[in-house]
Amino acid sequence: MDFRSDTVTKPTQAMRRAMMDAPVGDDVYGDDPSVNKLQERMAELLGKEAALFVPSGTFSNQLAIMTHTQRGDEILVLEDAHIFFHEAGAPGLLSGVNMRQAKSVSSCYDLDELPSLFRDEDIHYPRTSLVCMENAHGSGRVVALDKMAQVYKIAKEKGANVHLDGARIFNAAVHLGVEAKEIAQYADSISVCLSKGLSAPVGSVLLGSKEFIDKALKYRKIMGGGMRQAGVLAVCGLVSLDEVLPRLEEDHILANYLALGLEEIEGIEVAKDRLDLNMVFFTLKDKVDLAQELLKRGILVNPEEEGEYRLVTHIGTSREDVDRLVLALKEILQ
Ligand SMILES: Cc1ncc(COP(=O)(O)O)c(C=O)c1O
Repeated sequence: MDFRSDTVTKPTQAMRRAMMDAPVGDDVYGDDPSVNKLQERMAELLGKEAALFVPSGTFSNQLAIMTHTQRGDEILVLEDAHIFFHEAGAPGLLSGVNMRQAKSVSSCYDLDELPSLFRDEDIHYPRTSLVCMENAHGSGRVVALDKMAQVYKIAKEKGANVHLDGARIFNAAVHLGVEAKEIAQYADSISVCLSKGLSAPVGSVLLGSKEFIDKALKYRKIMGGGMRQAGVLAVCGLVSLDEVLPRLEEDHILANYLALGLEEIEGIEVAKDRLDLNMVFFTLKDKVDLAQELLKRGILVNPEEEGEYRLVTHIGTSREDVDRLVLALKEILQ
């Protein structure tokens, strides 16, 4: 039983069969029919002109930043964004840009503060060229469409582009009850992960205008992301869209069921305002090394981060697994 992340999901039987039979070609020449098919389907789903298959979510976010910016620019990021917090300072290292942190209010920009974060035209200031958003947010929240629309409007008024880290955009769409393209309309580029709740073994897709993706293609090569016969991976993404995407809501339902179980346990405080996704965040009243205790019972969870535990449900989690986890936590804590 593995509650660490939805990245632990394994390729399904259908994916393994599809890999065996995948039509492939050299993708650096644009010749891989499976990669091309995945890119076309993703572009259609997200309502963008073009798409590019890349190795990971981090790669995709960084490729977007490199494509949108020039060295010396400043980009706006939320203080709790994956790009800022969990990508090892890559924007400075790879693109030579400065990250200006913005206050996170319920996992989105403070709309009153945001306009003041853009730099004026002055020889002393860097150019603010990009605003990064995240939806679904890794905090367990989904950002409302009207908030995204307002951030996009402000960015455009200031002459900046918007990149959306949509690693879990389909989870956000499930929660909002909208098509993913309705979320994607408020971004110039979007990164979408196939290897999280969608269960593919490897891969993300970067989307945007044709002009943007043509430019990103060269940077993908520079970053070493030209993957040749990548069709064996891309077909898994196609299976994700056909077979895993339609069941994504089940993970959310299971996470809510888990939260109900946890709320009954003395000593656990569930973050009830962050139950939009397939994740449950909680804190403990007393300090216990839960990861270690659960491991003894054959249950994997991540150690606490910033004083908080996170449990994630996914295609490999059953109701019985959740019941066993809740029982184990009761044993440990009571
Ligand atoms: C919101 C978000 N963005 C980006 C990433 C990076 O994805 P990858 O692990 O494929 O680099 C993650 C990974 O968990 C994530 O949660």
